Amino acid sequence: MSFMKNLKATAAVVALSTGVAQAADVEVLHWWTSGGEAAALNVLKGDLEGQGIGWQDMPVAGGGGEQAMTVLRARVTAGNAPTAVQMLGFDIQDWAKEGALANLNDLAAAEGWDDVVPEALQGFAKHDGKWISAPVNVHSTNWVWANKAVLDTNGIAVPETWDDFAAAVDALSAAGITPIAHGGQAWQDATVFDAVVMSTGGPDFYKAAFIDLDEEALGSDTMKEAFDRMAFIRANVDDNFSGRDWNLATAMVINGDAGFQMMGDWAKGEFLNAGKVPGQDFLCFRFPGTQNQVTFNADQFAMFDQGGAVSAEQSALAQAILSPTFQSAFNVVKGSVPARTDVSDADFDDCGKQGMKDLAAAASSGNLFGSMAHGHAAPASIKNAVYDVVTAHFNGEYDSATAVTELVDAVSIAK
Ligand code: BGC
Repeated sequence: MSFMKNLKATAAVVALSTGVAQAADVEVLHWWTSGGEAAALNVLKGDLEGQGIGWQDMPVAGGGGEQAMTVLRARVTAGNAPTAVQMLGFDIQDWAKEGALANLNDLAAAEGWDDVVPEALQGFAKHDGKWISAPVNVHSTNWVWANKAVLDTNGIAVPETWDDFAAAVDALSAAGITPIAHGGQAWQDATVFDAVVMSTGGPDFYKAAFIDLDEEALGSDTMKEAFDRMAFIRANVDDNFSGRDWNLATAMVINGDAGFQMMGDWAKGEFLNAGKVPGQDFLCFRFPGTQNQVTFNADQFAMFDQGGAVSAEQSALAQAILSPTFQSAFNVVKGSVPARTDVSDADFDDCGKQGMKDLAAAASSGNLFGSMAHGHAAPASIKNAVYDVVTAHFNGEYDSATAVTELVDAVSIAK
């Protein structure tokens, strides 16, 4: 019996012999609380249950995971870290630096993760040569979701450029339809900003501003133009956008109450969960002007050190997550694409197939960049500084020229 099978068997035996399910439970902290997200999560729960491992759910709602990270900090401070935690990019590295995460190297070596997990993900999943988290998926933020009937009725073709997009928005507005479904929460404003910055300035500019945190790029006229475009978007959302959850904004597009939503591909999970079919009921396309780029974020499960070697349950969870069959089954439902390069696209719908193709092409052409909004461009302190400025500008607290100055200042203080 292999080392891993042994571990799984041990976990199952612990559960059986004690008769107490908790003995081999995993407690998982996550923010997958929408209908589509819960459907995807059930794929993982089911997989583990099949191995005799129970699931203690610790959901903390809030896209982007800010609230979840606050709860996590409190739990760790109280000396009661969950077994596994959904986590994004730089947050994983921050916890690893604190020495809080378990070492998954034995499992990673046995399973050959080094050969199949994309390099961009390994940069976040490993610290000091140690695997400290298990990548679940790859999402990307530069997508637009559209109601096909709404576009067809109004004679609108898929916009290729920002100008096409602005014209489509104007046409919907003139027809009395809410052009853009949006939820006014800082992380959602920032998610849109990822794509707008990429579209306005192109990949070199995105990298200079968001990854290199170059003051000149942050303070440039191009950045001012990006803020002007955000103001245009703000002018074309409905009156009730403030505070709305992202999945309720998606529902507006699903129900034909709005034309477009700019959101990461977790939005697709909501369309699928509502029984909608890509190409028939809804359209997915890259944010106009970013067709060759991908701004990505990958959900990973970081395993918290439970005081010793990685536990059998943690290993079983990590192994399940990285298995090729799970990677396909889960990501088909979640809207994301696999965190392995060797998974077939056969079971994915057209949006998923495009996502996989785009990711591979962007990675090989140097057009794959971490999402600022979702913790893959810069550490949380900087991300939060960007959130503050983008949201204040979106809510009309200051104009685009002031936003640029504020952005330079906020990033420089946070650095
Ligand atoms: C996560 C997604 C999640 C989304 C909305 C993102 O930060 O990466 O998995 O679906 O937030 O909750």
